[in-house]
Amino acid sequence: MIYLKTDEEIELLRENNILVSRTLAEVGRHLRPGVTTRELDKIAEDFIRSHGATPAFLGYEGYPATACISVNEQVVHGIPSDYVVKEGDIVSVDMGTFMKGFVGDSAYTFAVGEVSDEARQLMEVTKEALYRGTAQAKAGNRVGDISAAVQEYAESFGYGVVRELEGHGLGRKMHEAPGVPNYGARGRGPLLKEGMVICIEPMITMGDKAVVFERDGWTVRTRDRKPAAHYEFAVAIRKGGPDILTDFSIIEEAIKAN
Ligand code: MF3
Ligand code: CO
Repeated sequence: MIYLKTDEEIELLRENNILVSRTLAEVGRHLRPGVTTRELDKIAEDFIRSHGATPAFLGYEGYPATACISVNEQVVHGIPSDYVVKEGDIVSVDMGTFMKGFVGDSAYTFAVGEVSDEARQLMEVTKEALYRGTAQAKAGNRVGDISAAVQEYAESFGYGVVRELEGHGLGRKMHEAPGVPNYGARGRGPLLKEGMVICIEPMITMGDKAVVFERDGWTVRTRDRKPAAHYEFAVAIRKGGPDILTDFSIIEEAIKAN
């Protein structure tokens, strides 16, 4: 069942995803060598609560924190811990809010200080893959048009596209239909209609696409332990085309000053 949203509901989803964007910016401002991922999680939780929302991930299927913080070879769902962030790390932060009956869910991969040229390119290509997928998010297209755009761009650099996890519909629940894979064939999959809201979230690896699920029950890392990047935003399918409900410019302004 795919729920189509009214304009009013899309604005509530935007409010949530803007709050997630602002929280990601706040985390980005504090992300420097020496900080622990647990400290970053606390900053995120306090920021979300002080803006009248609750962390959507906390307690979701038993998830123990506000944010998923995944470093280097960790792809997604890293649990905040005593890990001390160091220069050269790439750190993916994914989080959600719940406010006014709707959910926000977005992610961004940050560089800590100077990172390798290879890591920088992986991040840039993953973000560009997200934008290319998003450009296909219009009424009359199919989910496969998004998937294929993401996959083709990432693979053209020799990168791996993770198969085990995918994007999703977003609304009153964090995970709604349809699933939005990051690989697939043009013209296939569910039809995109005005009023749909989806999260597109490419998870791209520098090496092989294979991942393993760690025994903590959450962390997903690359099998070859090469780095991965992950960006996510929420997009509404509207008359004029894709309407991005997350605002990466808030994050990018904040980290410019780092
Ligand atoms: N953003 C993720 C997703 O889209 C993370 C949710 S996992 C959680 O599926 F358990 F932490 F909530
Ligand atoms: Co998501």
